[in-house]
Amino acid sequence: MNTVKAIYPGSFDPVTNGHLDLIARGSKIFDHLVVAILRNSSKNPLFSVEERVDMLTEALAGFENVSVATFDGLLVDFVREQHAQAVVRGIRAISDYEYELQMALMNRRLAPDLETIFLMPDGKYSFVSSRLVKEVFTLGGSIEGLVPQFVIDRLKVRVPTNGH
Ligand code: PNS
Repeated sequence: MNTVKAIYPGSFDPVTNGHLDLIARGSKIFDHLVVAILRNSSKNPLFSVEERVDMLTEALAGFENVSVATFDGLLVDFVREQHAQAVVRGIRAISDYEYELQMALMNRRLAPDLETIFLMPDGKYSFVSSRLVKEVFTLGGSIEGLVPQFVIDRLKVRVPTNGH
């Protein structure tokens, strides 16, 4: 029987409920889903790769067919290494599409056999991003319901704020 393995790559700095919603959807479609954190990101992350692995591992404890990994270099090389057939990315709004299409087509040029599959998170997460979550939290706003509670707890330790 053919099984389909997919890679869901990203920064996950930190994981949000939008990511988790997408992972839940992906886990129903694919036999195995690997959530893959990019190690050598040009973005300046708040959480170390190890902290992000820990948070994702905790969040994904209930999923039997989802695992967490990290990768360096080209995504297509990691996908090959993993013997996966697909890459999953989330599209929250049409504004995401342009960048995602560009990446998907570049990846297709590099690895013609690899398919990128776009999934939409629940509409209630359409405005949620790791960047905004960090910004709102840092400025003292509530991010309740947008990330798991243990992410809020870690942010409280990490980020000095006026409002928390
Ligand atoms: O969550 P992000 O930060 O939007 O994820 C971006 C990510 C990690 C998917 C993308 O930057 C990536 O795949 N980087 C690995 C390097 C690579 O393959 N670059 C060419 C992509 S077309």
